[in-house]
Amino acid sequence: MKNRKIGVFDSGVGGLSVVQAIQKALPESEVIYKDDKQHVPYGDRDVEEIHGFVLPILKSLVDEGCEVIVVACNTVTTNLIEPLRKEISVPLVGMEPMVKPAAAATKTGVIAVCATPKTLSSRRYRWLKDEYAQGVKVLEPDCSDWSYMIESNQLDREKVANIVNSVCSQGADQIVLGCTHYHWIEQIIKELAAGRATVIQPEQPVIEQLKRVLAQLP
Ligand code: DGL
Repeated sequence: MKNRKIGVFDSGVGGLSVVQAIQKALPESEVIYKDDKQHVPYGDRDVEEIHGFVLPILKSLVDEGCEVIVVACNTVTTNLIEPLRKEISVPLVGMEPMVKPAAAATKTGVIAVCATPKTLSSRRYRWLKDEYAQGVKVLEPDCSDWSYMIESNQLDREKVANIVNSVCSQGADQIVLGCTHYHWIEQIIKELAAGRATVIQPEQPVIEQLKRVLAQLP
């Protein structure tokens, strides 16, 4: 594949896990990563405020020659991807909670979605549940302080363990990581849930989508 400039954006360190995965899958491409350290975490902020933060950053990635941008942030994707697609002149690849595969895979009929409050309250997320998780019980544990914990490198393992234990004891056999910050603690969550639930996150499907988009570029 031709050398391409790929932009990646997230509010904070969540996007870096996605950058690593892209660089591994597409070593010949150049990845430019931007975050918003000044305003992270986004998960509790007003959507219009987030829009105002994100738009100039994505525009700067276009100005720097990015031919596609991965919005490595579920909060931004689920709330703002539609207006942003109209405002940004290159294709945007979004990341959103994997409700569909989790609902398709569950044997217990219970899944858990770990995400920011703004993702969970978005129309897009509600639509994903209505469309793909009919008849499935969707647990939405309170992870509102997880991105801050991870961003500031102050992981409270007990807090994470309590949530994993709680969703597993309510029958969840699929745990969806619906915030890219949580990718950094994927291994911990997997160990906590071992033998009880499968942990899923969208890095690989997003890379497949990115490859499809790149293949269509002139
Ligand atoms: N990493 C982001 C996400 O995927 C946002 C975390 C935050 O800023 O609260 O939702």
